[in-house]
Amino acid sequence: MTNISINSYIKFLKNIGIYSFLQDQPNNYFNKNKNKGLNTIEEIKSIKDLKSYIKNSEICNLKKTAINTVVGDGNENANIMLIGEAPGAEEDKNGKPFVGAAGILLNRMLNAIDLKREDIYITNIIPWRPPNNRTPTNDEILQCLPFVQKIIEIVKPNLILLLGATSAKAILNSNLSIAKLRGEWHEYQSINHKEKINCLVTYHPAFLLRSPNYKKESWKDLQEFQRNFQ
Ligand code: URA
Repeated sequence: MTNISINSYIKFLKNIGIYSFLQDQPNNYFNKNKNKGLNTIEEIKSIKDLKSYIKNSEICNLKKTAINTVVGDGNENANIMLIGEAPGAEEDKNGKPFVGAAGILLNRMLNAIDLKREDIYITNIIPWRPPNNRTPTNDEILQCLPFVQKIIEIVKPNLILLLGATSAKAILNSNLSIAKLRGEWHEYQSINHKEKINCLVTYHPAFLLRSPNYKKESWKDLQEFQRNFQ
């Protein structure tokens, strides 16, 4: 195919509503990894097995430059889940999500609505740090999406707080800005998790560190979130 015909084919796919199948190669999530004796992602039932599955996955090139695979942390029986974007430098070093500067602010935000880290399960859309903390590409998000979908399926939270644009885009399958998605509840559902889960979108704590003016808006989101779990 020439560049022009590829472009018009992509335009055609977008016009008929297909946004998610633009990779050259299929994602072989269902292939058994016989060498390592791992289950297929379909068969996995626990976060422990999922962590080992993701650690051994070769689906996304971000793994090659990361030190650690950062899957998630907190209470695996929690009713509340928080989903961020991807590990930063501190998280990559420690192997745990939200332990750096953004994590410190996040802990304060949680305290303000009477939540502790032990009360929630916290994860990211991408389990590997993108080089220089760049925003993950759409392909990387699509490659890693089955991981976070599986985490949701295992933990089964009642409420999800989506931190930032990447998280909102991936979980709500929407390209709308945070400004448009904030302030109302959205529903998450997947093929393997048919029960709808209420999701609220708010600013990412790393963004709030750079733009403290938005903290007032973020406080409104947190209060709305709190009203629904009390
Ligand atoms: N930012 C995120 O989105 N996730 C982390 O774990 C740390 C920083």
